Amino acid sequence: MSASTRETPDVLLVDDNDDLRYVLATVLSRHGYHVVEAADEPAAVDALRLHRPSLVLSDLRLPTGDGLGVLRAAKELDPALPVILMTGYGAIEEAVTAVREGALDYLPKPVDHEHLVLMVSRAIEQRRLVTENLLLKEALGSRHGAPTIIGEHPLLLEVLKSLRRVAPTETTVLLGGESGTGKELFARALHAHSDRADGPFVAINCAAIPETLLESELFGHEKGAFTGANARKPGKFEVAHGGTLFLDEIGEMPVNLQAKVLRVLEERSFERVGSNTTLHVDVRLVAATNRDLRAAVAARTFREDLFFRLSVFPITIPPLRDRPTDVPILARHFVERFAREQNKRPPHLSTTAIEALERHAWPGNVRELQNCIERAVILAEGDTIHAQQLNLGAGEIVREAHPAPPRDPWDEIDLSGTLPEASRRVLMEVERRKIAQALEDARWDHAKASAALQIPPRLLLARIRDFKLAPR
Ligand SMILES: Nc1ncnc2c1ncn2[C@@H]1O[C@H](COP(=O)(O)OP(=O)(O)OP(=O)(O)O)[C@@H](O)[C@H]1O
Ligand SMILES: [Mg+2]
Repeated sequence: MSASTRETPDVLLVDDNDDLRYVLATVLSRHGYHVVEAADEPAAVDALRLHRPSLVLSDLRLPTGDGLGVLRAAKELDPALPVILMTGYGAIEEAVTAVREGALDYLPKPVDHEHLVLMVSRAIEQRRLVTENLLLKEALGSRHGAPTIIGEHPLLLEVLKSLRRVAPTETTVLLGGESGTGKELFARALHAHSDRADGPFVAINCAAIPETLLESELFGHEKGAFTGANARKPGKFEVAHGGTLFLDEIGEMPVNLQAKVLRVLEERSFERVGSNTTLHVDVRLVAATNRDLRAAVAARTFREDLFFRLSVFPITIPPLRDRPTDVPILARHFVERFAREQNKRPPHLSTTAIEALERHAWPGNVRELQNCIERAVILAEGDTIHAQQLNLGAGEIVREAHPAPPRDPWDEIDLSGTLPEASRRVLMEVERRKIAQALEDARWDHAKASAALQIPPRLLLARIRDFKLAPR
């Protein structure tokens, strides 16, 4: 009989005494439980994987292995799986250890049948409630579109704490983090946990839309505002009214649009392209970037005033390699999810598979892990995912091949000496390069070059001499 067709739950009963096992199994099945039996730890571990019981009832002392081993294997498979250990006379200390390690309870031998049935039914009922609660929570969550963020590493928990704290406010949030760390997921979570959860969540990727279209996408346009504007169209700011607007990859936004976004942030107003009518909106802004905006500000590709406005509450999601303990947790979560999607029984990750996952550096972060597991679940035959199916190659090599973060060109500048000295040095270099370039562009026509630079011709001549410039 397969697990999915059974209505009553399974109890895995582990004891080496055949007679006792027979008696207890009979008692339990009389109360409607399906009983799976095992006589030692290895057999119990196999049965756990094969039958996924709802409860484990195991003797503490076993001929091969022991009840604590069964307990650990059960908890590894499913931390919420209730385990009851049966203890002989005088084994109370071991029983206490077992409870400390996560056993639900212990049952003294000789086993009192009524006590047994009561304990089993209570444990199963409790588990049913826990599962129901989880489902309910999930349903509630998805009603508001709250995505589940998986992970338990202290660095992630820290970030989640800030997220939860800032969510109910109106504060603009800037999400940072490498590609695939979950910026969009966090933005959705932020919205779902805000007072605007019933309003719209609107996302726009500033890098994916050509510069010429981005303005009308953001602010909308009137009919005939430009060629191809056949009808008036509201922009994302209007659509997000009463909700949250997520500006993804904001570092790629052209500077002239940055000024307009700043104005919406400050005045909550804007005009559609091709219109003089000022519109007002109530929108909470969340922005994301995988670039160092501070460096972009220094390089003048990002407006400083907008940067300050956006970074009132910055949240940086740590890369997966900085929270390695989350790798197996996320991996198991994705195995469950993709198995469900593919209508498979969730395979289990072999120890070597887990090790391979832990060795990998994950330059593509959670997205890479998710893709890796999806592929592995498709490839998995039987109930186990092996390391080969993860296709991760040799972990150490991958870690070394991880690309170095991009260098900031401003780090190359010589900042030695006093501020006036350093500023003069930088300014001189900018002047020299600018003038040399203008002269090249004008094919050394001094009048043209000085007009382009908007400096008097006499000053240009002086600079050519100072910098010893000559045609190339
Ligand atoms: N902690 C997490 N728990 C569950 N799923 C996660 C988690 N972090 C990321 N994901 C999943 O990983 C994928 C990538 O996340 P997301 O798209 O939010 O990353 P991103 O930081 O926006 O990446 P990019 O910079 O490339 O746009 C998504 O499918 C997301 O649901
Ligand atoms: Mg993204």
